[in-house]
Amino acid sequence: MNQIRKIAVLTSGGDSPGMNAAIRAVARTGFYHNMDVYGVMRGYQGLIDDDMIKLDNQKVANIIQRGGTILKSERSKQFETKEGRRTAYENLKAHNIDAMVVIGGDGTFTGADVFCEEFDFQVVGIPGTIDNDLYGTDYALGYDTAINTVVEAVDKLRDTAGSHNRLFFVEVMGRDAGFIALRSGIATGAEDILIPETETCIDDLIEKLNHDRRENKTSGIIMVAEGDDAGNAYQVARKVNENFHGYETRVTVLGHVQRGGAPTCMDRVLASTLGYEAVNSLLKGKYGVMIGKVKNEIQYTPFKKAVKHHKVVNESMLEMARILSL
Ligand code: F6P
Repeated sequence: MNQIRKIAVLTSGGDSPGMNAAIRAVARTGFYHNMDVYGVMRGYQGLIDDDMIKLDNQKVANIIQRGGTILKSERSKQFETKEGRRTAYENLKAHNIDAMVVIGGDGTFTGADVFCEEFDFQVVGIPGTIDNDLYGTDYALGYDTAINTVVEAVDKLRDTAGSHNRLFFVEVMGRDAGFIALRSGIATGAEDILIPETETCIDDLIEKLNHDRRENKTSGIIMVAEGDDAGNAYQVARKVNENFHGYETRVTVLGHVQRGGAPTCMDRVLASTLGYEAVNSLLKGKYGVMIGKVKNEIQYTPFKKAVKHHKVVNESMLEMARILSL
């Protein structure tokens, strides 16, 4: 077994529900193996600023149910520089830290990959992003909670949309990915789902809306991923309104509400599993990888691959959503 006495854990990039549950799992698995566990504040920036706290059982108690991250999170510009990374490495060495667990998304793993290569430091990653766009895991921490938040909000919008015969354009997060829009769109019976992975044709959307009008639909929900090629929800609404007057329209941007809240049971269990497996991976001498779960099996994906490969959207689900919303 790989000799590890001290580990560090940090959260980086956009926060996501389940990060606290993962911190707890990393810490408790570490304690079980008689390790000292340090929590690095504010992601890689805290590593550079030597901003760390020694975790104990008490510090990670009662956090499994809390959204956000007790370690706080940042996107560090300094860590993108070689000097910044060297300072981070020197701080880790000064504390005799042998290995590190990083929780975050593609930016976090891009940083981890360079860091591992430059200093041959032992780092493993846990996928945490509500966008769920990482290759090498079916689900990332926070995605399930985020889509449930969206579903709850859109169900409410549907009530008011129906009362007023209105069409709502609902913008959800996903700079480059439509996973939130797709799943929550299916779950709320959205009339259409616009995602960056497929080309959006406004004329087709208008044709669909005309069909809905003829079918006497009393409300409409168009789910728009923020990174859609036709623009954000306001821009899409403007384009539709130019040539369609079947419904009065409104735009709702759900925004950062999607990033908060208590993690769902699924996110808590996933976070616990991946946190536990991250420490086990280090003990087995396996590092430079993101720990994910694919088809219910633990999978180790090299950081480079997790970042470079694109997770593919299941287009047949989009087709299904269209048929079901007829
Ligand atoms: O966490 C990813 C994400 O939610 C993206 O979908 C979104 O574009 C981005 O974060 C916004 O993050 P911030 O406001 O923290 O820059």
